[in-house]
Amino acid sequence: MLLRERIEALAARPEGQFSAEDRSLFDEFKTALNRGEIRAAVRDSDGTWRANSWVKQGILLGFRMGQLTDMSASPHLRFFDKDSYPARPTTIADNVRIVPGGSSIRDGAYVAPGVVCMPPMFINVGAFVDEGTMIDSHALVGSCAQIGKRVHLSAAAQIGGVLEPIGAVPVVIEDDVLVGGGCGVYEGTIVHERAVLAAGTILTGSTPVYDLARDTIYQRTADAPLEIPAGAVVVPGSRSVRGERGVAWGLSLYAPVIVKYRDEKTEQAVQLEDYLR
Ligand SMILES: CC(C)(COP(=O)(O)OP(=O)(O)OC[C@H]1O[C@@H](n2cnc3c(N)ncnc32)[C@H](O)[C@@H]1OP(=O)(O)O)[C@@H](O)C(=O)NCCC(=O)NCCS
Repeated sequence: MLLRERIEALAARPEGQFSAEDRSLFDEFKTALNRGEIRAAVRDSDGTWRANSWVKQGILLGFRMGQLTDMSASPHLRFFDKDSYPARPTTIADNVRIVPGGSSIRDGAYVAPGVVCMPPMFINVGAFVDEGTMIDSHALVGSCAQIGKRVHLSAAAQIGGVLEPIGAVPVVIEDDVLVGGGCGVYEGTIVHERAVLAAGTILTGSTPVYDLARDTIYQRTADAPLEIPAGAVVVPGSRSVRGERGVAWGLSLYAPVIVKYRDEKTEQAVQLEDYLR
């Protein structure tokens, strides 16, 4: 039986004990995640991102079957977590640079060769981080997030995790995107390739994004997530609140604004320090 069918069958089984055989199925599943062979979300040939529900189901299974265990590094550095999700063992053969200090890749995450991880940072289960990406200090790659090639996740960028509902597409950051310092991208938002999020931009499922360059507003709909078009340059802005009270009180709300599409000036501003790689 295919891995997918076996995971679906196990997930459909009523709550109860898990056998050694179930655990070894889960280990097989995690190995496939660690190798990047299976992913929580995939891009179809027409460019649409689709959640791989069975993979997310498998990840949730790990939480169900895991037992709290002592994972202490030493008597002075103590950790306790589900035994199904220890820190993923890494070796020099992975060809991923991990600068010493407070970083962790959770078991069940794929990190491609050539990725640079600056401490402290955390990559959660189900995440997929593609080649040449830089994950800077204090950055979070949340569960199931899909990060493309040559992405720069700047210091303190937070990429939210989307584990449930299992059918929900996670946050996707496509190839060559720059996520500026302190940005937050949450709730299944898709940032298409080469987009630039200026420092401090926050995108959630409820955030309308105002495109000055194309005279349009992007919003999540019932069947599509918030999507930032390829090459958009998004900066944190504000808009005045409509309605009598809002006007009387002079209120404004946070509003991300697309000021333009990536040009020569942007290229210079976001030039990455290649020598750091
Ligand atoms: C977005 C960014 C790359 C600038 O791109 P750019 O192409 O050089 O942008 P421009 O200077 O041409 O600005 C275009 C417009 O957006 C405005 N703008 C640019 N950056 C802005 C920002 N961060 N916040 C608000 N407005 C901004 C400019 O004022 C300009 O508007 P105007 O024409 O009305 O004056 C830069 O602001 C940025 O955020 N860089 C990332 C910094 C970072 O996080 N580094 C982390 C490394 S660890």
